[in-house]
Amino acid sequence: MVPRGEFALSETGIQPHRAPASGLVFAVVNQKGGVGKTTTAINLATALAACGQRVLLVDLDPQGNASTGLGVSTPATAADGVYAALIGERNLADVIVPTSVPGLDVVPASADLAGAEIELIDVEQRQSRLKVALEHDVGGYDYVLVDCPPALGLLTLNALVAAQSVLVPLQCEFFALDGLSRLTRSIERIRNAFNPGLNILGVVLTMHDGRNNLCRSVEADVREYFGDRVYQTVIPRNVRVSEAPSFGLPAIVYDMNCSGARAYINLAAEILRREGRLPEREAAA
Ligand SMILES: Nc1ncnc2c1ncn2[C@@H]1O[C@H](COP(=O)(O)OP(=O)(O)OP(=O)(O)O)[C@@H](O)[C@H]1O
Ligand SMILES: [Mg+2]
Repeated sequence: MVPRGEFALSETGIQPHRAPASGLVFAVVNQKGGVGKTTTAINLATALAACGQRVLLVDLDPQGNASTGLGVSTPATAADGVYAALIGERNLADVIVPTSVPGLDVVPASADLAGAEIELIDVEQRQSRLKVALEHDVGGYDYVLVDCPPALGLLTLNALVAAQSVLVPLQCEFFALDGLSRLTRSIERIRNAFNPGLNILGVVLTMHDGRNNLCRSVEADVREYFGDRVYQTVIPRNVRVSEAPSFGLPAIVYDMNCSGARAYINLAAEILRREGRLPEREAAA
């Protein structure tokens, strides 16, 4: 199967205002596995870049799926990935790799990152390593997205301490809300202990199937509980989205007309609109 072609900003129908860069850091978090964190991080980052934003995606998961899904190999040695920056061996700026998407760079993860959970235990300020690296070493990005592993361990803690906002991908299934209350309690604790400005930016419903009764009922519960923090845009279950990473491409590049790609473009527009970076009229386009 061949990717159907390149996307271009003009094709998205979105013409954003370029706001003053504030380098907003979003942690893409859900301790539940396989809910669409990495897919959301890759495609939202691509859609934001397609909207003219400068975006850095930090792969903070030892699985390295955000790196490979963008066609960037996971580094053979730990010295070339995010791990080296977390333990202070390298400057974060030196391990940034450009992707084939204009405006989107990635900090790749290597498998060694799994060891960081243990190796950082004795390190001073171990929960703030990513925050310090982003603040001191990196500039010029409008958005930094951090793809987290499916656990609330030290790596996710680093993302939540570095972030201003949490983006929670949620698959509409029976246990979805159980995990969410645990996650909101953790966010509350991190806000009190380390990061008073931390907010839940939003919940995005992924792999949505409107024909499925359970999916509709979970969606109603989530919208009742989180109110307008749940994005209007839902990401449909779409086979093109799941095929794209095997080509090392975001779905938006692999097939920008598939329903999943269009949904991620709409999600980026909704986020930019909430940030005041996109006028209402064009956000609705
Ligand atoms: N909208 C979608 N339509 C179809 N398949 C999807 C969609 N979103 C994600 N998937 C597939 O679901 C699986 C899990 O997605 P993903 O890897 O993004 O989840 P994750 O939360 O990052 O997982 P992990 O917790 O292991 O890091 C992948 O095979 C992915 O291709
Ligand atoms: Mg993942």
